[in-house]
Amino acid sequence: MSESPAFFIRDVPIHGPLILAPLSGYNDQPFRRMCLEFGAALVYTGLLSASAILYGSQRSDEMLRFHADEHPLACQLFGSDADMLAKAARAVETLGIDVLDFNMGCAEPKIVKGGHGAALLKDPAQIGRIVTRLVNTVRVPVTGKIRLGWDAGSRNYMEVVHILEDSGAAMIAVHGRTADQQYTGLADWNAIAEVKQAVRIPVIASGDVRCAADIPRIQAHTGCDGVMIGRAAIGNPWIFQHRDLPDILWEERKPVIMEHLRRMVDFHGEIQGHRRFRKHLRRYLTSTDVSRQQRRAFLHCEDLATFTTLLENVADV
Ligand SMILES: Cc1cc2nc3c(=O)[nH]c(=O)nc-3n(C[C@H](O)[C@H](O)[C@H](O)COP(=O)(O)O)c2cc1C
Repeated sequence: MSESPAFFIRDVPIHGPLILAPLSGYNDQPFRRMCLEFGAALVYTGLLSASAILYGSQRSDEMLRFHADEHPLACQLFGSDADMLAKAARAVETLGIDVLDFNMGCAEPKIVKGGHGAALLKDPAQIGRIVTRLVNTVRVPVTGKIRLGWDAGSRNYMEVVHILEDSGAAMIAVHGRTADQQYTGLADWNAIAEVKQAVRIPVIASGDVRCAADIPRIQAHTGCDGVMIGRAAIGNPWIFQHRDLPDILWEERKPVIMEHLRRMVDFHGEIQGHRRFRKHLRRYLTSTDVSRQQRRAFLHCEDLATFTTLLENVADV
C-alpha cells in the first residue's frame, strides 16, 4: 500500500490509482479479494438491484457476502425509484461497505427496459433527485458511474456530471462510450478529460485499458485521479502490478490459478466454484503452451484433486 493516498472519495483514502471496475458475473468475493491483494486500490461489486435487495433475493444475498479483508469496497446499486434505492442503500450500508455507487451506465436491454442503468441518462433531473436522496440517506460517500449519454445524438455527460457533483456525489467514474455503443468502437478518452477539467470531485477513467502500457496512456490523456480496469483484469490480476499475461510465466501463474479456484470452491461450493471459475480460467490459460486437449480437461474438471494434477502436468515454460 502506498504511503499517502492517491486521492480521497470524500473521507475514504484510496491508496493507488488502479481500481477493479464493476463487472457483473465476475466480481464475486474471491475475485475482488485477489485483485485487492494484487494491488487494486478499490474494488466494486457488480451491479445489484435495489428491489432484489429489498426482497432478499438469493443472488443478491450472495453478492452481498463481503470478506473482512475487502476494503475499500464500493457496492453498486441500480434502480430508478428513489425510495427503493434509499432503503436498499441503508440496508447495504450496514454490511460495512466503504462507498455506495449508483449505476447510470449499464446498457443491458433487461436493465434499460425497466428505466434503470444508462436509461437514466435520458432523465438527468431524476438522476439529481436519486443521488440527492442517497447522499441524504447513507453515511458512506455516494458515487456514480456513467456513460457519455444514451446515443451519439445525446451525449449529455457534461450536464450529468454537473448534476452529480451538485447533488453531493463524491466521485464520478466515466465509461467513455454511449449506451448505444455497448462495447463497440473506442472509448472516448477526450470526453473523460473534459469531465476531469469540469468538476472538483475525483474522476475515474474507464474504457479500453487493455494492457499495462495503456495505464499511463489513459492517465496522461485524461488527467484522471484513478483508472478502472475491467476486462483486462479477468484472468490477469497482475495488471494491477502493471504486468501483462504474456509476461507471466506458467510457474508464477500456477499457484495463483490454484488459489483463485480454491477460494471459488470455498465460496460457491465444489461444483459451482469450478463452473464459475471457467470464465476466469480461459483467460488465465491464454499465452501458454497448454494444449487443446489439456484445456478441454481443465474446462470440464469439477474437483480440486483432478484440477491439481492437471496443473502439475503442464510443463513450466
Ligand atoms: C462482463 C462485464 C460486466 C460489466 N458489469 C458492469 C456492472 O455491473 N456495472 C457497471 O457499472 N459496469 C459494468 N461493466 C462495464 C465495466 O465496468 C467497464 O466500464 C467497461 O467494461 C469498460 O472498461 P474495460 O475496457 O476496462 O473493460 C461491465 C463490463 C463487462 C465486460
